[in-house]
Amino acid sequence: MHASFHLAADLDAVLRAAASAAGLADASAFAPEVRTADPRHGDFQANGVLAYAKSRKLNPRGIAEQLVAALPPAVRDLCEVTIAGPGFINFTLRPAALLAWLRTHDSEAHLRTGAAAAHAGQTWVVDYSAPNTAKQMHVGHLRSAVIGEAVCRLLAFTGARVIRDNHLGDWGTQFGKLIYAYKRWVNPAALAADAIEELERLYKLGNEAAPDGSPELEVARRELVLLQQGDPENVALWRKFSEVSLAAFQEIYDRLGIRFDHHLGESFYNDKVDRVYRELTEAGLAQVSEGALVVFHPEHPRFKTQPFIIRKADGASNYASTDLATALYRSEHFGAHGIVIVTDFRQADHFEQLFLTVRKWFAARGHRLPELHHVTFGAVTGEDGKALKTRSGDVIRLKLLLDEAVDRAFAIVTEKSPEIPEDERREIARLVGIGAVQYADLSQNRSSNYVFSWDKMLALDGNTAPYLLYAVARIHSIFRKAGVTPGDPAAEAAATAPETPTEIALARKLVKFPDAIRLAADGLRPHYLCLYLFELASDYSSFNNADKVLVDDPALRARRLLLCARTLLLLETGLRLLGVRTLQRM
Ligand code: ARG
Repeated sequence: MHASFHLAADLDAVLRAAASAAGLADASAFAPEVRTADPRHGDFQANGVLAYAKSRKLNPRGIAEQLVAALPPAVRDLCEVTIAGPGFINFTLRPAALLAWLRTHDSEAHLRTGAAAAHAGQTWVVDYSAPNTAKQMHVGHLRSAVIGEAVCRLLAFTGARVIRDNHLGDWGTQFGKLIYAYKRWVNPAALAADAIEELERLYKLGNEAAPDGSPELEVARRELVLLQQGDPENVALWRKFSEVSLAAFQEIYDRLGIRFDHHLGESFYNDKVDRVYRELTEAGLAQVSEGALVVFHPEHPRFKTQPFIIRKADGASNYASTDLATALYRSEHFGAHGIVIVTDFRQADHFEQLFLTVRKWFAARGHRLPELHHVTFGAVTGEDGKALKTRSGDVIRLKLLLDEAVDRAFAIVTEKSPEIPEDERREIARLVGIGAVQYADLSQNRSSNYVFSWDKMLALDGNTAPYLLYAVARIHSIFRKAGVTPGDPAAEAAATAPETPTEIALARKLVKFPDAIRLAADGLRPHYLCLYLFELASDYSSFNNADKVLVDDPALRARRLLLCARTLLLLETGLRLLGVRTLQRM
């Protein structure tokens, strides 16, 4: 065994081998369950002995002793091995092993090779952001974009070919009213100045002018039918709505560093829904109920009576029809091994019904079934726990929210570092402000509501973007002072193994990077990576306070520069995987 990327996985393999070497009964059934340990006990802990012994009525401590005795000597060279409690096996890396890991993991490429196993060779389609066209993006659209982008980057880092697909809500009854209003009241000057603003105004006018049961609504409906029948004028208008919407969305995506590969919105699946109706009906999964085509799931407590409506009674397609067609397209056209859809928790039922239906349908027809994941998240609330609104009670536009983040960051940078030239302060503020918004979202467990707090997200202390970005900038400044490029092998050549308690604590945290990536990528939960980066930055800060880096002793200096360089590499890599851009000076 050598100090490879994924120490926990290596130890897992080693313990499995020890189980057969020790001649354990039913050795192949032994699952070591190696996890990152509480640092007071070691670096990694194998918990699996307990379950193995219990189910076979054996003494777990005795089993643990047998396993430890069967470990190859190379493992003992790398770690100190102890048995604790009823039969936990603890591994604590020796300083030489820590040094070996740090030496080999000297670039993002090397980190990536090690991490690539999880999704190597797989294609994953990530469906995120996906706002509805002809409307501005508001604060509610932030989470899907930010979480989705981090998920893409984590999957790509672990070896997947990632296809970013923006599944725009670009089809539906609202376009009848919008066309109706556009034809009557469009203001060309306003449209030229801020198209999406004007479309939003028109949509509101259309809604007010065509209430339920009114003759105006009938006219609006006819516009919709014309659009659906391919009437050139209405199709051209609808195209224009999509184009200006996308241009406005792209401004936001640019600020967040997001680039989609495809924008295959609901309209793209218009001509693909008939096949869905046919196949589901032929497979005996769909039935007509009160005029609509529906799917029941008899094995499910709720969906045995609450149907999944896949075609409306008036014959029109709906969100379910297009999503079913989307799943098939992603399987057939992209050869997807995995599909991730990122929306808020309110769509949980829809996706549960969708996935149940897709699994049965694909099995019946022999379509290749990808792994299906609905990545949900909670609402964005203010500090009072209520939905986030402007003072006048309107929804907050994402554009203005990002502007405010940058303005606030600029005020902070200006107060802290008035000596930096204004241009540079503006650039810093742009990255810190946007990064703070992204990071605040990602650092909380996505399943919870996200409490939006300017003060918390911009704080220079705590689990925040400014704290991490500042740590990165501080390490860069050490290298500037040393006149060394971070990671320069010449500066690290003389490094010896970590020795002081703060050096050792930092090194032990560094080698846990792969576990943080694995947790975040497997669970599609970026907050695990955030927590790791925050703890890493804290351990770095303790090291930096206790151990002077730029000392005269060449071996000591090299070893501390090595620790600085690897901390920097992991912080920068980790932040990049979250979509947060870093700075060299702050
Ligand atoms: N447009 C939808 C919304 O705004 C989100 C679409 C998510 N993706 C999907 N395949 N349904 O809620």
